[in-house]
This record gives sequence, structure tokens and C-alpha cells, in this order.
Amino acid sequence: MKRYAGMDVNDSLLREEQARARVACMTPDEFVEYSIGAIARQVGSERAVCGLSGGVDSSVAAVLTHRAIGDALTCIFVDHGLLRKGEAQEVQRLFLGHFHMNLVVVDARDRFLARLAGVADPEAKRKIIGEEFIRVFEEEASRLGEVRYLVQGTIYPDVLESRSDGRGGTGVKSHHNVGGLPENLRFELVEPLRYLFKEEVRRAGTALGLPGSVVGRQPFPGPGLAVRIVGEVTRERLEVLREADAIVREEIERLPAAGGAWQYFAVLPAIRSVGVAVEEGSRARSYSHLIAVRAAASEDAMTADWVRLPHDVLDAISRRVALEVPGVNRVVYDITSKPPATIEWE
Ligand code: XMP
Repeated sequence: MKRYAGMDVNDSLLREEQARARVACMTPDEFVEYSIGAIARQVGSERAVCGLSGGVDSSVAAVLTHRAIGDALTCIFVDHGLLRKGEAQEVQRLFLGHFHMNLVVVDARDRFLARLAGVADPEAKRKIIGEEFIRVFEEEASRLGEVRYLVQGTIYPDVLESRSDGRGGTGVKSHHNVGGLPENLRFELVEPLRYLFKEEVRRAGTALGLPGSVVGRQPFPGPGLAVRIVGEVTRERLEVLREADAIVREEIERLPAAGGAWQYFAVLPAIRSVGVAVEEGSRARSYSHLIAVRAAASEDAMTADWVRLPHDVLDAISRRVALEVPGVNRVVYDITSKPPATIEWE
């Protein structure tokens, strides 16, 4: 134990504080340059692998590492089929087409669906998705041959959280174990964003030339749409939710700063309701899906307020979803804050 600013601290804590202080005063360009040098020194002539999710952190970590070691980096993108509309294509277009990175795309959609068949409990779904993700990633990584390093998008809040209680959660949902990789994989870690806060990661991403759609991306849970489908995940229900969600996002994004929403999305509850289907002038009774719209304002996801979206935006969403998404006849708006609700429905 050492004394630092009048307190007893251990060496690793002190090193972490110093590392944070070092990057805290850098401009985004300075950070990018510094980080590329640090990664190049760490990895040397070895090879590295990175799990790309399409999210801000893994994208910035991957591009930084690619700038440092080029083709010695291979990225693995596991398409579990639980992503939002267009996301898998966007990842390929960007990292393969634009950045020319070594990218392995694993189409694991059927595999995840098969594992999720008949499972309705949210925590059971999270567990299955988390386990399956690690299995697929490990299988693909082992095909690459000798690889020493794993690039991870760990950011400073993760470091701080793991310090306080070792898990960083309230235990309400098993968030942080899902859609990520465990620490006991056979790799040594490269964590270029370890001392950055989210906003600093976004600024570094912009400095690296990542588009606004990536650096400004709203938080998206690791288990993806599976926790926005209440009950069993099926191909049909995924399709309904994905289409509805694309409309919800498109309409809310017409507002400046998305109307102040931090997260906004569609949810598919496990109920159907009665409606009237009008087709070629005739009217028939329908018994179809319901879509719930969620828009939450928050700073840290611990608490959240529902967003007072303008009525004309809600109206546009409702009309478009009911008209354009087959099998939906009703749209509702979730007007609950957190607490007592959570942001996600599961
Ligand atoms: P809740 O629903 O607890 O969500 O208010 C708080 C924040 O966490 C995200 N979330 C998850 N993120 N895996 C994740 O990576 C998960 O299983 C998960 N569940 C919720 C949620 O989107 C919000 O930002």
C-alpha cells in the first residue's frame, strides 16, 4: 500500500488514476495518435482479434487497432439475428467496404433462434444468448490460428464500476454479462478505451472518421431485440418488431436531437388485440400484434423519464406502423418513468 494525496492506495489503483489523468487532457486527435502508438508497442508483431458488435466502443477500439497494426487485426462480427434493421449490412459496408479491415462475418441467426425456441423467461434468454455468443466467437477465433491478443471496448465507467462492487449492477437484470466476452478467454487484452468516458470515445471515433450513425448510436442491449420481444423469440415476431422499430426510429430521428430521447425503440408485448382490417373496401375483424413505443430520456440509465414526444410524431408512428407492418393493428406509447419501470420491457 502507498500513500497518495493523504490516502492509502494500492499500486494498480494509482496506475489507473495516472493513466486516466494522462488521457483526460488530450484532444481527440492527440488521443488517437497516442493510442495508436501504445497499441503498436503492446501488440508488436503478434496478431489480435476483436469482436465487433456495431456499437460505438467496439467500433472505435477496432478502428484504432487497425490503424496501429493493420492486417494483423481480424474482426469477428457475430450476426445473431437479434439486431435492428440494416445493422448487419452497415457493419459490413463500413468495416469491410470503407476501412478495408479483415472481417469475419458469422451468420449465426438460425443457431440463436434454435437455442431460443420455446424460451420465454427474460433472464433465461439473456443467459442463452450470452453463452451462445461466446461459443460462436471462440469457434471462429480458434479458426484463425495463433492469435495472442483480444481487443476489447472496455471504457472507464466499466473500470470504475468493477471497482466498487465487482459487478457494477443492481442485480435487477443480468446486463453486463451478456453480449460480451468473459475475461478468462485464452487471450491477453488490448483495451485502448480503458481510460475514456463515453463522450470521449465518441469524439475519438469522429477523429478516426467513423460516421455519425456509429459514434452517435443510441445504447443497444447485448441481447438485442430478444429483450424487446416479451416472451418467445420467433422468426415471425422478430420480423414484426424489426420493421416496427425501424419506423419508430425514423420518425423520432426527424426531431432535432431525437426530441431529447436517449433511447427510443419499439417493443413487441406478448398479446394480441382485436382490430378492424380494411382491405379493398371491405372490413374484417383482425386479431393481431400490438406494438409499444418507448422513448426514454436519461443520463446514466439508472433513472429515466419518458419523453413527451410531439403528438404529430406519435401519430405518424402509429399510422405508419399499423399500415406498413403486416400483422400489427394497434400502437401504444409507454408513459412510465424509471423507476418504477425499467427502460427495457424485459
Ligand atoms: P433497464 O431496462 O435496466 O436498462 O432500465 C438500463 C440500460 O441497460 C440496457 N440494457 C442492457 N444492456 N445487456 C446490455 O448490454 C442487457 O441485457 C441489457 N438490458 C438492458 C438498456 O438498454 C438501458 O440502456
